Amino acid sequence: MRTPNIDIEEIKRRREKLAKHIAVYALVLAAAPVEVRNNDVHHPYRADSNMFYMTGFEEPDSCFIFRPGQTPETVMFVRPKDELRETWEGFRYGIEQTPKLFSIDAVYDIAEFEAKAPELLNSCENIYYSLNKNHQFDPKMMQALEKTRALRGRTGRGMPGVADSYPLLGELRLIKSEYEIEQQTKACKISAEAHVAMMKAARPGMNERELHGLFIYEIMKQGAAREGYGSIMATGDNATTLHYTFNDCEIKDGDLILIDAGAEYNFYTGDITRTFPANGKFSDVQKDLYERVLKLQNQIIESVKPGVTFKQLNDMAIEGLVDIMLHYGLLKAPPQEIIKEGHYKKYYPHGIGHWLGIDVHDAGKTIVQGLPRAFEPGMIFTIEPGIYIPEKDESAPAALRGIGIRIEDNILVTENGHKNLTEGVPKEVAEIEELMNS
Ligand code: GLY
Ligand code: MN
Ligand code: MN
Repeated sequence: MRTPNIDIEEIKRRREKLAKHIAVYALVLAAAPVEVRNNDVHHPYRADSNMFYMTGFEEPDSCFIFRPGQTPETVMFVRPKDELRETWEGFRYGIEQTPKLFSIDAVYDIAEFEAKAPELLNSCENIYYSLNKNHQFDPKMMQALEKTRALRGRTGRGMPGVADSYPLLGELRLIKSEYEIEQQTKACKISAEAHVAMMKAARPGMNERELHGLFIYEIMKQGAAREGYGSIMATGDNATTLHYTFNDCEIKDGDLILIDAGAEYNFYTGDITRTFPANGKFSDVQKDLYERVLKLQNQIIESVKPGVTFKQLNDMAIEGLVDIMLHYGLLKAPPQEIIKEGHYKKYYPHGIGHWLGIDVHDAGKTIVQGLPRAFEPGMIFTIEPGIYIPEKDESAPAALRGIGIRIEDNILVTENGHKNLTEGVPKEVAEIEELMNS
């Protein structure tokens, strides 16, 4: 018998918080669909982030309905126990165990969703459901809504309105609870230790795949279920592809290696990038460029405290990186013009960071009522300036071509400032070289 991977008291607190926002609404969340990989083989299953956030339930073919203040208030539709299917596919909590373990008032067979859901939705004026995200569940939901309209007959009420649940839950997920900060801190620590192991192991002649394998081994050894996103193991020019995923090239002497990888621990993911020399020693030009990016990253991290906004951090990053581009002659124009026209995007095409949590690019608004959102204690995000000069860029100085540098840490906003959750991976040149040569 398996046991839930969550603290049920934490889940109850989330539901209480949400109930304050959705008095006459119902929230409907569906499990992520199982996706075919090839023939009858499936991709590894990972629960939908919002479903996990509100229930802790990790099985496919399930649905959660939350009707604050009504009876039953929490309802789930799940796969029933089935000895034969469980022999092939593994354990199910079933209708008997789900209520107590996941604190659910009423649990039904998922096959009954279309029959039972209209009665449950009929008493709710509107419904929070994320349309067009779940190709398997959407048709069932449409049918349930149509049947709800039919139940209302000639009352003039019509079909319940549907609003997107994503921004609603995003607001809750954005401020991390104490429990979440613990999970996130552990995810960051595991990720950091795996980065250290990769730095120690990396050598010219290895394949990017070997580092990838080592990362997965190191994080799973420490209890991570999986990677939080597709890891980037990019040597040399590959580092200039932002979301490089082939991870199958030989590491050459003289290359810089850029690794962007994070462990997912209890559903919270780390998101760390480090860039280091394959042979354990930065060349003069690599060192000079790297240290400029590092100095900027440290300055941006130091500025984080409640009240600061992503807009301010983005502006700092753009100004600092444009200075670096001008220093090397990568761009030649007045800085104001480079910024206004966005010419810097040729070498820095992304933003300074993003919220981090159950999703690597986590939920939560960055703009509120038309204004940049001020940071608050409990928010967690990345800071990841970078510069990427492709080998094929003949307008760049030859010595810089084929270099991609990004340095990424995970930052928690605290009452008085911030805490860097990923400082366990060296990023100073001397520290990296010492580690690699120890
Ligand atoms: N690893 C994806 C990102 O840094 O946004
Ligand atoms: Mn990131
Ligand atoms: Mn990253």
